[in-house]
Amino acid sequence: VEVKRRSGFERERTLPMHLILGLEAAGVVEAAGPACQLHRPGDEIWFAGNIAHTGCNAEFQLIDERLVAPKPRSMSWEDAAALPLTGLTAWEALFNHMAISSPATVGQRILIIGGAGGVGSIAAQLAKRVAHLQVTATASRPESADWCRMQGADNVIDHADVLAQDPALGQFQFVLNCASTEQYWDAMCGLIAPEGKIVAIVETSTPLNLLPLMNKSASFSWEHMSTRSLYGLNSLSAQHAILAQLSQLVDLGVITSTRTTTICGLSAATVRQAHELIETGRSVGKVVISY
Ligand SMILES: NC(=O)c1ccc[n+]([C@@H]2O[C@H](COP(=O)([O-])OP(=O)(O)OC[C@H]3O[C@@H](n4cnc5c(N)ncnc54)[C@H](OP(=O)(O)O)[C@@H]3O)[C@@H](O)[C@H]2O)c1
Repeated sequence: VEVKRRSGFERERTLPMHLILGLEAAGVVEAAGPACQLHRPGDEIWFAGNIAHTGCNAEFQLIDERLVAPKPRSMSWEDAAALPLTGLTAWEALFNHMAISSPATVGQRILIIGGAGGVGSIAAQLAKRVAHLQVTATASRPESADWCRMQGADNVIDHADVLAQDPALGQFQFVLNCASTEQYWDAMCGLIAPEGKIVAIVETSTPLNLLPLMNKSASFSWEHMSTRSLYGLNSLSAQHAILAQLSQLVDLGVITSTRTTTICGLSAATVRQAHELIETGRSVGKVVISY
């Protein structure tokens, strides 16, 4: 998301940018406005911010308290900073859009396309350790496949097997696409089970044909982590609630950090370094900048 925001600005606006990048962080509350009810100065917190506001690649950030929740006590700052944005995205995809809930969906099958990325990693943890689904994730390299298994994938397959709609894959009640919606569209329509649910988090440049989903009564929905803040929805505090639950799951030892890389020191150079890692398209888990 950060790489896309930066490159969008570089394309459309005159440099230097006036929007500070950085959508998720862990830190300490320095000051709270008089109407704040959820957090006080000194609280250790984490958050995923508002895409339309200035961000956290900075020493201080002003943020709506409804986007903020207590940081897991048992986690380091670096481990915690890896989770809020991807955790929220995966949570909303699984538990809101797909309506996955125990015990009704226990044992059902989910396919996570792009399993080793930031969202795919935490989605696999939530799907396996919280929702108790049968998790199949896609990865194309031994190291990304190993990582997917560590996150909870029962089965790791190559992206190409999905594109080929290998009949041996069977059908999935749920498909979460964290890589390319258009590239996998036909395959997702083929692999989704009747009454199944497909969720995608990546924008397309071409229209999607929903017709193949009709006979199956299968549904498709977008997940966009920033919808509530972009549209000023009253449900904004749901973001606080989800992050608070995620924090508890971490402290219970159910969820672990997806941090794989830490870059020390916050500067334009280290932000650039982090963006370059993501731009390879091959990063595994999450990149964190420690302050
Ligand atoms: N809608 C939202 O709210 C939201 C939130 C967060 C992110 N996003 C978007 O979601 C996408 C994923 O972001 P992320 O940070 O989770 O991922 P990421 O960390 O950038 O993903 C890297 C992983 O993608 C895999 N990959 C590369 N090409 C692939 C392909 N053609 N098919 C399947 N997998 C492929 C690679 O696995 P291998 O090396 O094994 O090939 C690599 O491990 C981005 O486009 C981001 O902007 C959207």
